[in-house]
Amino acid sequence: MRMYDLIYTKKLGGALSAEQIAFWVRGAAAGSIPDEQSAALLMAICWRGMSTEETLALTLAMRDSGKRLDLSSIPGLKVDKHSTGGVGDKTTLILGPIVAACGVPCPMFSGRGLGHTGGTVDKFAAIPGLKVELSEAEFLRSLRETRFANSAQTADIAPADKKLYALRDVTATVESIPLITASIMSKKLAGGADALVLDVKCGPTAFMKTLDDARTLAQSMVDVGRAHGMQIRALITRMDAPLGWAIGNALEVMESVEILRGEHGDSELAQLSFRLAAEMLIMGGAAPSLEAALARVQASIQDGSALATLRRFVTLNGRDALALDDFSRLPQPGRVVDIRADREGTIAALDGRALGLLAMDLGAGRRDRNDRLDLGVGLRVLARVGQKVAKGDLLFQVYAGDKASIVPDLYLSSLEWTSLPVAPTAWLLASIGC
Ligand code: URA
Repeated sequence: MRMYDLIYTKKLGGALSAEQIAFWVRGAAAGSIPDEQSAALLMAICWRGMSTEETLALTLAMRDSGKRLDLSSIPGLKVDKHSTGGVGDKTTLILGPIVAACGVPCPMFSGRGLGHTGGTVDKFAAIPGLKVELSEAEFLRSLRETRFANSAQTADIAPADKKLYALRDVTATVESIPLITASIMSKKLAGGADALVLDVKCGPTAFMKTLDDARTLAQSMVDVGRAHGMQIRALITRMDAPLGWAIGNALEVMESVEILRGEHGDSELAQLSFRLAAEMLIMGGAAPSLEAALARVQASIQDGSALATLRRFVTLNGRDALALDDFSRLPQPGRVVDIRADREGTIAALDGRALGLLAMDLGAGRRDRNDRLDLGVGLRVLARVGQKVAKGDLLFQVYAGDKASIVPDLYLSSLEWTSLPVAPTAWLLASIGC
């Protein structure tokens, strides 16, 4: 087989066979296929797309490039969740402990943040002493003892994805539905869960800008999951303004704990986290209907069992869980700078991407994979879409390092203003398989 022929076939819009795809993925992971040939094929796939059969074959080849986790020693249906990524998305920290507290084992592998979006691993890393890279034995022990496990993706899960994703990142080939499907689903299938809920983000701050594209991506992942015997359903949710008030790692831990304590229960973040948790409970066999599942979620907040599960997870995999009760034990910023409104009006929109990039510049996120994070910095976003604002009202609090220079206009320019009332918009845009 010659890599040249695969590139040529795809360049003309032809289909690749499962054998050809496996040849490419094996060679890319082993380093026997040069990066320039993989990059050319990635670009051809971006332009020409892949059929369902090709996407399935790519997912399988990537899954089989590494190890598959065997969770069969843990009783019950294991249910995972994946979000395609957004600004301020801390749903894993909230729903993982809830689902586990309701009796469903929840094994999760997470990523580190890059660019304007944060990563769940970095948020967990803000809890002092918590180990975020668990060995297989530690992961299984956590799942057995707390029903919740979260770890950074290990190098032996779908290593071909690591290689191809790094190439996609530098060749502008990330935004391709078959490539995203295979990348996410290969890791999820290798992770060993029986069921998966997807949160596919849609909007200006997400990979998928239109509802049509978000539906196509969600359906593609659902088809691949089902073809491999996984129970799978997807929600398509809006991503424009940041999710919740916190952007930045320690701040996002605080907001998650507040929701687990029963605060901000009607916020969009709480509603989304509760709904995703409810879908997971239904798939895990812990509730017969959405209504029953949402009631169980609420009960786990009210009786404190969800927060107690997070405490047990942190104690088991870390030092102690005192920082969950006393936020002064979390990483702190050098200083806090208030940003106030320089005009009056109604907020029509908040640019989540711009705010995510500003938080990244403060040190909450990575511009480059090797950047070091400052876990105590970030933004408290007080401005809300639809809010009527008077001049001088507090809109943002910037949690910054001692030396950071803060330019208020950069924060204020993330706002769009109107003189008209703003109609509330739904956060749930569609669902597939629910
Ligand atoms: N997240 C992934 O893991 N892979 C992609 O391709 C996109 C988002």
